[in-house]
Amino acid sequence: MPIVDIHTHVYPPSFMELLRSRTTVPYVRTFPDAPDSSRLIILPGEDNPSTPSTSRGRPIGPEYYDIEKKIAFMDLHNISTSVISLANPWLDFLPAEEAADAARRINDEVNSICSQYPGRLYAFGTLPLSGPVDTVVSEIERLNGLKYMRGVIMGTSGLGSGLDDPRLDPIYAALQKHEQIIFLHPHYGLPSEVYGPRANEYGHVLPLALGFPMETTVAVTRMLLSGVWDRFQGLSVLIAHSGGTLPFLAGRIESCIQHDGHLKSAGKIEGRRSVWDVLKKNIYLDAVVYSEVGLKAAIDASGADRLLFGTDHPFFPPLEEDAKEWHSVTTNYAAISKAFEGAIQGSAEDVLGNNAVRILRLHD
Ligand code: URA
Ligand code: ZN
Repeated sequence: MPIVDIHTHVYPPSFMELLRSRTTVPYVRTFPDAPDSSRLIILPGEDNPSTPSTSRGRPIGPEYYDIEKKIAFMDLHNISTSVISLANPWLDFLPAEEAADAARRINDEVNSICSQYPGRLYAFGTLPLSGPVDTVVSEIERLNGLKYMRGVIMGTSGLGSGLDDPRLDPIYAALQKHEQIIFLHPHYGLPSEVYGPRANEYGHVLPLALGFPMETTVAVTRMLLSGVWDRFQGLSVLIAHSGGTLPFLAGRIESCIQHDGHLKSAGKIEGRRSVWDVLKKNIYLDAVVYSEVGLKAAIDASGADRLLFGTDHPFFPPLEEDAKEWHSVTTNYAAISKAFEGAIQGSAEDVLGNNAVRILRLHD
């Protein structure tokens, strides 16, 4: 039985070089009080000077960039195949004139890493979204010729003003035409004020557990409201972390649309596709939600045939030094089997691997 991890990140060596060369977020550096341990500082606000340097960001080791560590992690957790993706914040921060070259270099590098482990590694490519639209479209076309690429990973900022930006239409058109799925992943979270004045007492819990999923939910709802899936009815999006909170909030989103006087007078209610229709035809959801409660919502909203196993490796390693298996992985495995206990439709095996093989054409 194949077990396929569709949510698993790498920073390939050339991206690490870039992170090490920088002094503003995102960057990798050591601090004088712990010169032997590099830290990865990527999230907005993570290098706030009031945070002690030894707890800024997270420690970074070879799990983040050495593909042999990925394969060892896969072997330890019985994962047959991984669809790797560059981790956040991708190329969002690059000056426009550097983006296209960087995307080509990184996509080629990741494709070549996959070629070292045929059948075990595939990838989502990275787009030069800070550059001109035509260079993004060219990279989508180029990705088609790279053997191991199966779609693209994207954050929520799009070309800088979100995924409801009409300037993205040629990009959505190219992705739809070439049947490349968007793996939509959060990075920016919510404005730090919502976490309150004692936020730095709570580690990364509020931004990762709540900021990430809310960011994703807002981004997808904006896509829906702007009619992206009315214009691109074949555009597929794989939403991280079981869709942010979309499966849970879909009814409320739909009701708010139905009761909105502004949308009605602008003629935007009649003839639009509902969120439920989009969830069942355009959206895939990953199973990185650590509980059968979230998984069941995802299954109810999109279907067991649209849910795909993931780990989020190398993030969320065990904190115990002597742990072997990662709790973040075993918790997801347990949640998936529990979600299907007594279920009439769908199976854990489909979520663990068969769905990914079918949807991402991993036999080719
Ligand atoms: N934290 C991140 O910054 N990215 C992830 O993918 C997971 C945790
Ligand atoms: Zn992730």
